[in-house]
Amino acid sequence: MIGATRRRILITGGNTGLGLALAKKLSGRHQILLSGRKSQAEVAGTLPPGAGYVVADHADPERSVQTLIAGIRDLGWDRLDNAVLNAGTGMMAHDGLDTVSAIRETLDVNLVATILQAQALFPLLAKARGTLTLIGSVAHKGSANVPAYAASKAGLHGFARALRSEWSGRVSVQVLHPGPSKTGMHAKAGYEPGRIRALFLDADDVAAMMASAIAARRSPVTISWIRYFNGGAFTGRKL
Ligand SMILES: NC(=O)c1ccc[n+]([C@@H]2O[C@H](COP(=O)([O-])OP(=O)(O)OC[C@H]3O[C@@H](n4cnc5c(N)ncnc54)[C@H](OP(=O)(O)O)[C@@H]3O)[C@@H](O)[C@H]2O)c1
Repeated sequence: MIGATRRRILITGGNTGLGLALAKKLSGRHQILLSGRKSQAEVAGTLPPGAGYVVADHADPERSVQTLIAGIRDLGWDRLDNAVLNAGTGMMAHDGLDTVSAIRETLDVNLVATILQAQALFPLLAKARGTLTLIGSVAHKGSANVPAYAASKAGLHGFARALRSEWSGRVSVQVLHPGPSKTGMHAKAGYEPGRIRALFLDADDVAAMMASAIAARRSPVTISWIRYFNGGAFTGRKL
C-alpha cells in the first residue's frame, strides 16, 4: 500500500451496525477513527484492528464536537479525507406523537450534532479536499411511526444540499439514504418488524454500497434493493 493512498477516515456511530460494517470494509486500506456513545471497555475487541475510537455522546451536540476534534488531534491528524457522519437514533412514536424528550434527543443526535460537527470538520476536510458524507434515510421523505426521525433525516437532506453548493470546489458533500437494513437500530427504537425483517438489506451489503457511493462523491444516493439488484454491492468505484 502506498502511503499517499491511505485515507484518514472518521466514521461516527462506528461501533456497531452500518458504521462498523463500513469500518471493517475500509480498515485494511485506510486509517480509521470511529466514535460512539459506548465506553472504550464496552467496544474492546469488537472494532477492526488499528482503528482508533473516541467516546462522544451526540445528545450533547457541542461537547461531541469538542471530543471528536480532540480525538482527531490526538492521532496527530492535520487533515481528514473523509468524514462519514453516520451516528443516528430513532424512537417509535405512539399514535403519531413523539414525546418532547424523544423529539429533542432525535434532533440533537441526528441533526444538531451533525451540523455542528460538519462545521467544525470543515478546515480539516478542506485541507485534504476531502468528502463529507451524511447518512440520512429513505425515511427523509416521511415515514409512519417515526415523525421526528423522518424530520431529522429531511433536515440532513436539506443541509447537505446547502453545503454542497456552499463548499463547492473545497469539500465534496453528499447525503446517502439507506433503506431498511439488518442492524440493531429497529429494536432500540422499539420497533419489531417481524417477518418483514427478512426483506431488510444485509449491513455488509449496505456498507459496500455506501463505500462505492462515497468514492463516487455523488449526492443524493438512495441505497436500496434496486441498487443492490443492479450490482451495487459488488461493482462501482472503490474507496
Ligand atoms: N438500519 C437501518 O435500517 C437504517 C436505515 C436508514 C438509515 N439508517 C441510518 O444509518 C445510520 C446507522 O444506523 P444503524 O442501523 O447502524 O444503527 P445502530 O446499529 O443502532 O448504530 C447506531 C450508531 O449510532 C450511535 N449513536 C446512537 N446514539 C448516539 C448518541 N447519542 N451519541 C453518539 N452515538 C450515538 C451508536 O453508538 P452506541 O452504540 O455507542 O450507542 C451506534 O454506533 C443511522 O444514522 C441511521 O439513522 C439506518
